[in-house]
Amino acid sequence: MKYGFFDNDRREYVITDPRTPTKWVNYVGCLAFGGIVDHTGGALLCAGDPGLNRITKYIPQMPASEFKGTTLYLRVRDGDEVSVISPFFTPCLDPCDSYECRVGLSYQKITTEIAGIRTEVTIFIPAGEAVELRDIRVTNLRGRPVEIEIVPVVEYSHFDALKQLTNADWVPQTMMSEKLSLKYGRMALLQYPFLRKDDAVNFLSASRPVNSFESDRKAFLGDNEYGTWACPGALAEGGRLSNCEARRGDNIGALAIGMGSVASGDEVRTVTMLGQDRRERIPFVVEKYSDPAEVDAAFGRLADFWQENLSVFQCETPDAEFDAMVNIHNPRQCYMTMNWSRYLSLYQLGIGTRGIGFRDSSQDVMGGMAGAPSEAKELLRKLLSIQKPDGSAMHQFYPATMHADCGDAEEEKEKGKLVYGDDHLWIVSAVCAFLKETGDYGFLDEEISFYEGAIPIDEREGGSVFDHLQRALEWTKRNVGRHGIPLLGYADWNDTVNLPGDAESLFNACLYGVGLRELTDLCRFLGKRDLVARYESDHAEMGARVNGVGWDGEWYVRYFMESGEVLGSSDNAHGAIYTNAQSWAVLAGFAPDERALSALDAVNERLNTRFGIKLSGPGYNAYDPEIGGVTTYPPGAKENGGIFLHSNPWVMIAETMLGRGDRAFEYYSQINPAKRNDDIDLFEVEPYCYPQNILGDEHPQFGLGRNSWLSGTASWTYQAATRFILGVRPAHDGLVIDPCIPSAWDGFSVTRKVRGATYHIRVSNPGRVNSGVVGLAIDGKQLDGTCVPYFTSGEHEIEVTLGEFGAVREPGSTHSSEMAVR
Ligand code: GLC
Repeated sequence: MKYGFFDNDRREYVITDPRTPTKWVNYVGCLAFGGIVDHTGGALLCAGDPGLNRITKYIPQMPASEFKGTTLYLRVRDGDEVSVISPFFTPCLDPCDSYECRVGLSYQKITTEIAGIRTEVTIFIPAGEAVELRDIRVTNLRGRPVEIEIVPVVEYSHFDALKQLTNADWVPQTMMSEKLSLKYGRMALLQYPFLRKDDAVNFLSASRPVNSFESDRKAFLGDNEYGTWACPGALAEGGRLSNCEARRGDNIGALAIGMGSVASGDEVRTVTMLGQDRRERIPFVVEKYSDPAEVDAAFGRLADFWQENLSVFQCETPDAEFDAMVNIHNPRQCYMTMNWSRYLSLYQLGIGTRGIGFRDSSQDVMGGMAGAPSEAKELLRKLLSIQKPDGSAMHQFYPATMHADCGDAEEEKEKGKLVYGDDHLWIVSAVCAFLKETGDYGFLDEEISFYEGAIPIDEREGGSVFDHLQRALEWTKRNVGRHGIPLLGYADWNDTVNLPGDAESLFNACLYGVGLRELTDLCRFLGKRDLVARYESDHAEMGARVNGVGWDGEWYVRYFMESGEVLGSSDNAHGAIYTNAQSWAVLAGFAPDERALSALDAVNERLNTRFGIKLSGPGYNAYDPEIGGVTTYPPGAKENGGIFLHSNPWVMIAETMLGRGDRAFEYYSQINPAKRNDDIDLFEVEPYCYPQNILGDEHPQFGLGRNSWLSGTASWTYQAATRFILGVRPAHDGLVIDPCIPSAWDGFSVTRKVRGATYHIRVSNPGRVNSGVVGLAIDGKQLDGTCVPYFTSGEHEIEVTLGEFGAVREPGSTHSSEMAVR
């Protein structure tokens, strides 16, 4: 409770103290135009490409006390006295009589009371628009009239974000500002680099006339920049800003918007706009959002979007923090990861070699597709278009150009080495999940070209989506090492274990196993019997190899080096056991019953901590070039014995496959960020979204979260919670309802919209078991099994009773193929 609380009714998290341990951010808009807004009003915005079309200069590495990207000042004249207030707390840091930041669904609402002035600012981007709006309402609480000027300030970045940081002569020589006069005394301050390939410019404007403006930082801060942001010379002097249209320099935009004399108790309102558009469009955008009714309507449309998006899955369980995450915060994070991949966050700055990842986005799409199926389909198309004709895939693409490369492994590729051995396999699961969700089987026949580098798109080889999936599996079938286990390449899911030569990856074997199961299920549904037989036999063959060479006695090993050495074995002093080798052997349906139990118990005994399951252990304690990146972290950090959250939900899912709902839920709860709200000084990051990693117990700062927001953790915890713990999952032939819950729960309810119909599902658990459906009725009619055939419309009531026979399920019996769902 220290810095804030969950307001579930309003679907917001409310920050009540601005001095949070790190900036806590939210996302506004989307990659086409948008970015992050922090809880002190700073914003990192870009349009289409965070590396090459950056708008604001937001440098996360600078101290929290500074404003970043953009801020707001009020200049208040009270009698003869002029004071400057910053309603976002930074950069003036004046004590707030009250402070509140409502972290909402694609908006941030910051309300403060400072020195008798109440300011409420709602920050959002209207859907489909390239303009950030700040709806500002200021109330005079001083008991006497005061004159108020509202001064929004933006610090611009050069559009090439890296150049901004690397060339301090060329960049300032190219930045230009210009005043554009508009109707009704309004203006827009344009900002653009002298040379720009398209004709878009940045603009800052307001719904009200502007008294004066500034575009040069030096002039604004004053005193040769020995003036500070906390006390800018231009504001302290109380006079007019210089109206400078800068022809070089460190470019800012500052507008002094006069609100006139405000009577005691009165509220005044203005809307500021920060956008990017073609010059000739700017007057229309400004005029549109100068109308408060348009602003309200745009805000309303955003609320409607989220209402629709979240309504596909809503639950009510005995656990309030579970509900807050599943109903609000986790699907929001899924949507953001599906949109941003790992492209732009407080930690991943979208500069240089990071684009939209094939592996990452294939997984993200699985978390975001129920709420936004057409966006998901569009992303799937893009991902499939960077799959190569041989079935493997490029590692990432840049959406503005659709150019693809292999990221960190680009050099390896150039040396002719295999790159990521796993990427292409993820798309199989992603497409199959999409088909199950939407029933859009026509997608399988859609022709999508394969990636062939310099060859123009219309001359590239094409193939149906189904062909793409088949080629993905075939590539792995062909590319195995000396144990018959798929090659690792530069890395598999774990980017940081980089082994020389033809090393083999047990993870890739299991991911391949999951893919084979998915295609088996799909082909069975489509009546392609020959293919069912082929994929079943490939699955059996790989399963036999994994069990033949991969079992260490108590758990599965993780890698074979080319030298024959094994990683992830009890023989290793460091990295003796890796979580993913255990969970994925179960997910793939490879682990026989007793091995599944033993492997997951080994995870519990050796890798579980109160803050989550570590990725491996014990941590490597010295750099070892033969093992690669993982050994560059100290023990307990990131992939080296850290709690890498992304892999936690896989263990939860595996546990539900064994019917162990208490353990699955314990694993869920221990990483639920909402449950860290009371120990937040240790956790540090936002309690309303999952971070990528938490420092492990070998690290002195055990429990500290890092790299929040853009992580595969979002998609997989959502899938673990909705599809496996609550057990409501679309299959090809119907909606499966097969929960695996804590035995303490007496039941729960879910509303699920899928394929045109809405299902109100009530599950009761009179015998306090973990799992086992003993009764299922749809609209009053009893049904055998756990799969409800799809309706195409209407509202339907489903009653489910859990009972004895499934208290602890025989491992591997009905559930070992659950990733591929019956
Ligand atoms: C990062 C990467 C992801 C990778 C993971 C583990 O989250 O984005 O692709 O799987 O690290 O190394």
